[in-house]
Amino acid sequence: MEPRRTLYEGKAKIVYETDDPGLLIQHFKDSATAFDGQKQGIIANKGVYNCAISSVIFQLLEKIGIATHFVEQLSERDMLIKRLEIIPVEVIVRNIIAGSLSQRTGREEGEPLPFPILEHYLKSDPLGDPMINEWHIRAFGWASDEEMRFINETAFRINEILVPYFEERDVILADYKLEFGRHPEGVLLGDEISPDGCRLWDKATGEKLDKDRFRRDLGRLEESYEEVWRRVCQA
Ligand code: TMP
Repeated sequence: MEPRRTLYEGKAKIVYETDDPGLLIQHFKDSATAFDGQKQGIIANKGVYNCAISSVIFQLLEKIGIATHFVEQLSERDMLIKRLEIIPVEVIVRNIIAGSLSQRTGREEGEPLPFPILEHYLKSDPLGDPMINEWHIRAFGWASDEEMRFINETAFRINEILVPYFEERDVILADYKLEFGRHPEGVLLGDEISPDGCRLWDKATGEKLDKDRFRRDLGRLEESYEEVWRRVCQA
């Protein structure tokens, strides 16, 4: 399958059309941004690690019965995916207090939540992805009630799989972002699951192994992505 017209170029990925109108190629770049694109940089080989990590995780989820847009990994940086109509609601799953939840509540980063929680954000670069709730989603018609029921249930199912999966690899999955889209087969999990959109902490040392190293200028960026890749893809 060859890439044709560029459908969309984002901060970390390019999506190409293919000769099959139902299939797209998702190409993973090394560029990284944070804080609505105000901070920009390159993490060497990030695209290779994220493509491989996402491919393994999508296949794991598919095996357990979670439908995703993943078709196959085509090359080091290219993934063949089903074309989705993206639902403009980003779902954040949180197991441990971190990041914006820590800032909003004044609670210490690293404190476990009594149970996993979900948050919803409007997927909109110009608006900076504001937090929204299910009343907004319903009133503005961003997703139907039925879709949101399915998405929330699926997010919790994914969490039940991914927390122990990472735990077995000595990684704590503190929080992460999911995106979903509409497809003739139903609502499918889209985008990627990689250290760009997850908080992954080494279980023994608490060391951050994800994009927070870039956001917070912690250094050892490539090494951290490589370490997650090693534990997910080489184990
Ligand atoms: P937050 O604590 O900054 O709200 O982030 C929660 C999780 O969502 C964290 O794992 C990083 C991920 N995330 C994204 O994937 N994209 C984003 O634009 C932001 C702000 C967070």
